[in-house]
Amino acid sequence: MEQIMAKIDLSNISHSYNPNDANPTYALNPFSMTWENGKRYAILGPSGCGKTTMLNIVSGLVRPSKGKILFDEKDVTNLITEERNIAQVFQFPVIYSTMTVYDNLAFPLKCRNFSKEKIDERVKSVSDTLRLSSFLNLPARKLTADQKQLISLGRGLVREDVAGVLMDEPLTVIDPDLKFRLRRNLKEINEQYKTTLVYVTHDQNEAMTFADNIIVMDQGEIVQVGLPKDLFERPKTTFVGYFIGSPAMNIFESEVSSEYSVKINNIEIKTNSNLSKLKDKNVKLGIRSEFINVAEKEGENTIKASLTRVEDFGNFKLLTANMENFIIKSKVDRELPISIGDINLYIPPEKCCVYENEKLI
Ligand SMILES: Nc1ncnc2c1ncn2[C@@H]1O[C@H](COP(=O)(O)OP(=O)(O)OP(=O)(O)O)[C@@H](O)[C@H]1O
Ligand SMILES: [Mg+2]
Repeated sequence: MEQIMAKIDLSNISHSYNPNDANPTYALNPFSMTWENGKRYAILGPSGCGKTTMLNIVSGLVRPSKGKILFDEKDVTNLITEERNIAQVFQFPVIYSTMTVYDNLAFPLKCRNFSKEKIDERVKSVSDTLRLSSFLNLPARKLTADQKQLISLGRGLVREDVAGVLMDEPLTVIDPDLKFRLRRNLKEINEQYKTTLVYVTHDQNEAMTFADNIIVMDQGEIVQVGLPKDLFERPKTTFVGYFIGSPAMNIFESEVSSEYSVKINNIEIKTNSNLSKLKDKNVKLGIRSEFINVAEKEGENTIKASLTRVEDFGNFKLLTANMENFIIKSKVDRELPISIGDINLYIPPEKCCVYENEKLI
């Protein structure tokens, strides 16, 4: 089967659903991005941030107000979905309920006149992967909601000749165990067939376990594109710090006090960021709870706080401490002996992220 997978470019794209209003609102603010051939992407962000809009612009269901979509440098902005060689899987099953499972899976191939042998081979392969083999002769309506969504997914995956498979929260209706297995299957499919997969979700764990590139969106903006490690260690905005990780990143209002230091209340905290241009400015200091340790005594970069809560999660303890108006969360080894009361917390300078106007310096 011919492989026509492609590099996908979104070039200066922006979109408004009400462009002719006196004050149009933008579901997507101008951005450019490239999806490399054969990679796995997750689009992650809260409800309403523009994930589906972005996906629909690539598949052709929505025409962008501005900008171009290119598949391997070819401008497809004016092409309809059917002409784009894209497979799309939606949140809820889209299937023909009176057709058999086999015919549902075969449909995208039949429409493109593949040989009976080829169709057989692909339907068998996809139905094995999705554990639908024993249902192939049943009408689709006889299957459970889970299985119907698997058929939908199968219809998206059955063609090998697509530029990409776009999935919009495809596993929402599927139970957690099966979800886990399916994400692994999708990864295998991607590794085997080198199909570009784009997966929309608002669940960070789903994004992290599925993708090698995560696109984080907030209110129509792409705020960061990166590996799970980048999003965890160097969130580019305070939003990413809050949104990724559990608990959210600790973020403290502070003031630049010297070239590399900030003050939280009256405590001087050294960072590795050069802040010489920001003298006396208000900034925010971000630090992950995973990087805050308990110190034996007061010293450089320690914060004296009052430990108010210790939660044992089995594999770690989560400490909640107060320092005047601030709450500090720290994840520590579960074996660490600890009791409620005064505590010194060490803030490693190399793990500090400094934000000016919510953006990483
Ligand atoms: N057909 C439409 N007409 C008008 N406004 C729309 C339309 N579709 C989406 N919007 C608006 O555009 C913005 C982005 O919506 P979109 O559906 O892309 O978000 P999303 O990230 O997919 O959200 P969710 O996680 O809830 O699916 C929202 O403010 C939404 O209300
Ligand atoms: Mg959506």
